[in-house]
Amino acid sequence: MSPLLVTRTLPEDATDAALRADVQVGLTSTPKTLPPKWFYDARGSELFEKITELPEYYPTRAEREILAARAGEIAAASGARTLVELGSGSSEKTRYLLDALTALHTYVAVDVSESALVQAGEAIMAERPGLAVHALIADFTAPLTLPDTPGPRLVAFLGGTIGNLLPAERAAFLTAVRGLLSPGDALLLGTDLVKDEQVLVRAYDDAAGVTAEFNKNVLTVVNRELGADFDPDAFAHMAVWNTGNEWIEMRLRSRTAQTVKIPALGLAVEFAAGEDLRTEVSAKFRREGIGAELAAGGLELTHWWTDPEGRFALSLSTVR
Ligand code: SAH
Ligand code: TRP
Repeated sequence: MSPLLVTRTLPEDATDAALRADVQVGLTSTPKTLPPKWFYDARGSELFEKITELPEYYPTRAEREILAARAGEIAAASGARTLVELGSGSSEKTRYLLDALTALHTYVAVDVSESALVQAGEAIMAERPGLAVHALIADFTAPLTLPDTPGPRLVAFLGGTIGNLLPAERAAFLTAVRGLLSPGDALLLGTDLVKDEQVLVRAYDDAAGVTAEFNKNVLTVVNRELGADFDPDAFAHMAVWNTGNEWIEMRLRSRTAQTVKIPALGLAVEFAAGEDLRTEVSAKFRREGIGAELAAGGLELTHWWTDPEGRFALSLSTVR
């Protein structure tokens, strides 16, 4: 069997430029922020997998239901020979697509989490000896160079991860994805839908505290990589529904007035008691809104599928 083809476009050492710059800018801004991609070290990827199994976290199960019911239709509409998956994580739900895409030649998994990518890539290679598998360690918000593989191409972006981008980042992202597609290619996009506030808040603030641990893991990453002295217990996990923006905001609220030192940046960061650090948004969508965002990026929504309860949607779009 041929080996997993691993390509890295991110620096080997996560302590460098990107993390430093993000932490420097984010922790000296008002309000304080940190970008979500730093959640996903090996521990973060493990914790995310635990989140997907929580009773309160419905998006994974809802999206899996749609894939189980619609993979055949998706495959027929796309006829893909190459499947590119952005933010593939464990690639667990991807199996429905891999099973249904009968002409598939290559699977390209793209993620910042090397541990998740390599684990998933090796498992899929072992299951499917005929399939070429590439693991691309890359940031999907930066320009991507995909391997030269046969078309048509299906680009999948599942899990509602698009909701973790801010509106301007989403616009840039969709335009960039459009640039990866040729006529005949398609984008399969998973979007979580606007729903009852209680249900949303519970999905991001579970009773067992797994999401709280995941949220605080970003502090552990900054401690390890930049020598900071964050005490994760000195922060409270918050999930707040922002009605105007229709997104869940994940925050870490400083329990007391405290100073955190970040030696690698020569920085001391003051937190007031009750001050929030915003770590992530998770936007929720409506069909009209995401259709308009896709159109603005040069894409045309051609199919829309939801789970029977209408919690989550998968859409297929083609080049306009
Ligand atoms: N698609 C999987 C995982 C979703 S979690 C699912 O649906 O369950 C989001 C995934 O995106 C994680 O694996 C994380 O490592 C990855 N990710 C987050 N930001 C990223 C970025 N900027 N570039 C590439 N991957 C990213
Ligand atoms: N893409 C996931 C989502 O928005 C990521 C996620 C789930 C997440 N739970 C989280 C990110 C908690 C930060 C904190 O649903």
